Amino acid sequence: MRLSRVLITGGSGLLALNWACCMRASHEVILARHSRKITLDGVSVASLDLESDATLTKQLEVIRPGLVVHTAGLASVDLCEQQPAAAMHANAELARNVALATRRLNIKLIHVSTDHLFDGSRSLYTETDPPAPLNVYGRTKLQAERWVAQENPDAMLVRTNFFGWGHRYRQSFSDWIIYSLRAGRSVTMFDNVFITPILADVLAASAHELASNDERGIINLAGDERISKYDFGLRLAGIFGLPDGLIQRGSLSRSRLVAERPLDMSLANARARQKLGRNLGSLDGFLLRLLEQESAGRRNELLTAVTE
Ligand SMILES: NC(=O)c1ccc[n+]([C@@H]2O[C@H](COP(=O)([O-])OP(=O)(O)OC[C@H]3O[C@@H](n4cnc5c(N)ncnc54)[C@H](OP(=O)(O)O)[C@@H]3O)[C@@H](O)[C@H]2O)c1
Repeated sequence: MRLSRVLITGGSGLLALNWACCMRASHEVILARHSRKITLDGVSVASLDLESDATLTKQLEVIRPGLVVHTAGLASVDLCEQQPAAAMHANAELARNVALATRRLNIKLIHVSTDHLFDGSRSLYTETDPPAPLNVYGRTKLQAERWVAQENPDAMLVRTNFFGWGHRYRQSFSDWIIYSLRAGRSVTMFDNVFITPILADVLAASAHELASNDERGIINLAGDERISKYDFGLRLAGIFGLPDGLIQRGSLSRSRLVAERPLDMSLANARARQKLGRNLGSLDGFLLRLLEQESAGRRNELLTAVTE
């Protein structure tokens, strides 16, 4: 299957920019812009209207991508809680439009979902565990999965939790820790919230490989390690040579966040490992790559890639 021209929605987002950097040497990458401007070497940019499946179909007919990666949406969990209608629109209704248009044109679709779909009462959720989201963000992402699977049964639905270098308007989880510790600021990190994080580039490369093999349906693309957010901070500080004494232990129940959050968001990646024939990777390996990316200029490049 020819997937060499890739169109990524949510082009100014954290995931899309790292996805584009990872793929631009081997693919023709087009980032679809929404409100912000994007400038990235080796990548083109197109305006795309996700509001109407009919308009989107016409635009895709012109661009003719072999693969669409749908990352656009409202990724702030607290903003979704405050604006549920806007969240349902951005996360679920737009995803349905993308699914309809790609199905109509027989374009392979990778839909990016989340690890926020469960109540967190257990660990290492599999693709077949019944979702039970605790907040509006999770409910809208679950609705998106259902509509995408219904409208485009060939789509691959990726559940994940990633990190990578962000940009001026969008800090990642790892950016927040790195920039705080470099500035001598302390950070409080939850020792009772568990994730299975993956580096954005490893997520992108693994998703492409699976899509090329015509994988479809739900698949967890998560790291091999389940870790608390607090321990993630300590491991990151160790690899980046930052002062881990600035990392304070915190606990989710004592925090004052708007939306309720699951304590355990870890995803089991056995299905992906079996399909890929390898492990997805250890956290230290991902963090070393993040450090190498900074030395190679990724951090600086992305900091200036997005403008208002
Ligand atoms: N970040 C995480 O840790 C995480 C974890 C698991 C899953 N995910 C999922 O991964 C995906 C990407 O997340 P991210 O962190 O990269 O998000 P992000 O940085 O917040 O970027 C979101 C993108 O969506 C675009 N967008 C928002 N509303 C839109 C609309 N109405 N029409 C078209 N585009 C719109 C934004 O464009 P403008 O800024 O130009 O308006 C932006 O490019 C999301 O689906 C999210 O649910 C994220």
